[in-house]
Amino acid sequence: MRLVLLGPPGSGKGTQAALLKDRLNVVHISTGDLLRAAVAAGTELGKIAKATMDAGELVSDDLVLQLLEDRLGQPDVANGYILDGYPRNLAQAKALDALLSRLEQNIDQALALIVDEEQIVARLAQRASEQGRTDDSESVVRHRLHVYAEQTAPVVDYYEAKGLLARIDGVGSIEEINQRLMDAM
Ligand code: AP5
Repeated sequence: MRLVLLGPPGSGKGTQAALLKDRLNVVHISTGDLLRAAVAAGTELGKIAKATMDAGELVSDDLVLQLLEDRLGQPDVANGYILDGYPRNLAQAKALDALLSRLEQNIDQALALIVDEEQIVARLAQRASEQGRTDDSESVVRHRLHVYAEQTAPVVDYYEAKGLLARIDGVGSIEEINQRLMDAM
């Protein structure tokens, strides 16, 4: 089972992927987590990515594709995976298709979480106060939402055109949303 989990910042991709990976016995691959780990480890890639992430912009396609390619080369992906935060623009969606075709794999389904902007701003304000993630200030969150609308929303249409998309109401309890995702698959 190979899934793409889509949705704006704060829509619950990471939360839901963490539950789905256990239910489906697959791995959770978050490009945001991979990038934050590179920043925390102080790698060259992390140093390049940090300012871009703090500003709520997208890190360059080449850097993220390299991270993803390395991750998909690891043996634990054999049973499947949930991609969270990738692809984030049409160029990445096409690069993923090319990579998967080389690996003789395909995406089984894309799931898009739908959450309104004010709920997102409230969720991420709460997370900012609890965890202090550097890109969760209100101004950067609003910018991330703008970047999502401009660059990532077309990826939802891309998977819809392939007949792979399910849209899921992302408002409710975490368990309810998880069940909606399972039902959609
Ligand atoms: P990334 O880490 O992918 O961030 P994001 O997409 O902005 O997503 P978030 O982690 O903020 O939200 P989420 O949808 O996972 O929601 P979550 O479950 O955490 O990317 C960060 C940055 O890295 C990007 O801005 C970019 O710079 C870079 N990057 C990453 N991938 C890239 C790529 N492919 N190309 C280029 N650059 C890339 O939930 C959010 C909060 O809400 C949590 O506190 C959670 O507890 C809470 N919550 C969850 N569900 C519910 C619910 N049902 N009700 C109430 N609260 C809830």
